[in-house]
Amino acid sequence: MAGLLDPLEVKGLTFRNRIVMPPMQTGRATVKGAVTDRLVSFYVRRSTALGLLIVEHCYVSSSGKLSPKQLGIYDDELIGGLERLSGRIHAAGTPVVVQITHAGGVANREVIGAEPVGPSATGKTRELTRSEIEALVEDFAVAAERAIKAGFDGVELHGAHGFLLNQFFSPLLNKRGDEYGGSLENRMRFPLMVVEEVRKRVKGRLLLYRLGADDLAPNGTQIESSVAFAVKLEQRGVDVVDVSGGLCGSEPKQLRNVKGYFVPQAYEIKKAVRVPVVGVGGITEAEYADMLVRDGKVDLVAVGRAFWKDPKWAEKAVEALKA
Ligand SMILES: Cc1cc2nc3c(=O)[nH]c(=O)nc-3n(C[C@H](O)[C@H](O)[C@H](O)COP(=O)(O)O)c2cc1C
Repeated sequence: MAGLLDPLEVKGLTFRNRIVMPPMQTGRATVKGAVTDRLVSFYVRRSTALGLLIVEHCYVSSSGKLSPKQLGIYDDELIGGLERLSGRIHAAGTPVVVQITHAGGVANREVIGAEPVGPSATGKTRELTRSEIEALVEDFAVAAERAIKAGFDGVELHGAHGFLLNQFFSPLLNKRGDEYGGSLENRMRFPLMVVEEVRKRVKGRLLLYRLGADDLAPNGTQIESSVAFAVKLEQRGVDVVDVSGGLCGSEPKQLRNVKGYFVPQAYEIKKAVRVPVVGVGGITEAEYADMLVRDGKVDLVAVGRAFWKDPKWAEKAVEALKA
């Protein structure tokens, strides 16, 4: 069985090892969502010795913005800055994709200057019409094209943490009575439409899906439906399934110190698909990450907060495991 330091080839692209830097919002973009020098330097400092870098979530349209200095990919004018970012990461020999997202019902009302939209009305949110849903598919697709123009090796669709794609999939957040809500098949419909269209537009480049596999709540998404969804994602051409969960933003507070907290869900999904699967959650030690890969629990290991704290995390992990 391969270990953390073994390379992995995905779609003709070689990841030098199995270490992934997961998307982490830095709050370092301009108020218009453009790349800044500070943002580039954050990534450049962490770009060595890892297999794949996933740039933080970028909003695909202005209605889907979460925070004031979030990175954007909603306009062609942003391509130049994004190209500079991908180029600097590639200079370290590291493949890089960018995560694209829409915050849906949890978009920031003050920031977007309008009522947030989601699958269902919640009091704070207006329900999307069918034609708006179709327009959002196009927003994701055009954003993915921008990512490719900007030199990225592909995109990751953000289908976790309670944002728009996850809002449609979660039975807790999707209360629609039409073909986009209700049954599992209906709740998968919008995310799969996005996958299908983005797959066409990124052509042979990488398409990752970050799957909110467990809402960590009664009556929320359970692993059985996530396994079924992952199989559909693979059938529609997703190249890597990145397994996360929880509905409240980036990390579930109750689990933050549990070692490997979304690995069990990743393992269930890995057993059902042939494409590589990323595991994440509270992973800080190289030896433990290596064991997860060797034991066949996951194919790739994402290290978030530990990497944020220590930009040399991957270099040190490689040294430690070689020794
Ligand atoms: C500051 C911060 C920002 C994050 N931003 C994103 C993001 O933009 N997209 C995403 O999918 N996850 C985001 N996450 C979640 C991480 O990718 C990761 O799944 C989570 O931190 C758990 O991994 P860890 O325990 O190694 O930190 C963020 C996490 C943190 C701490």
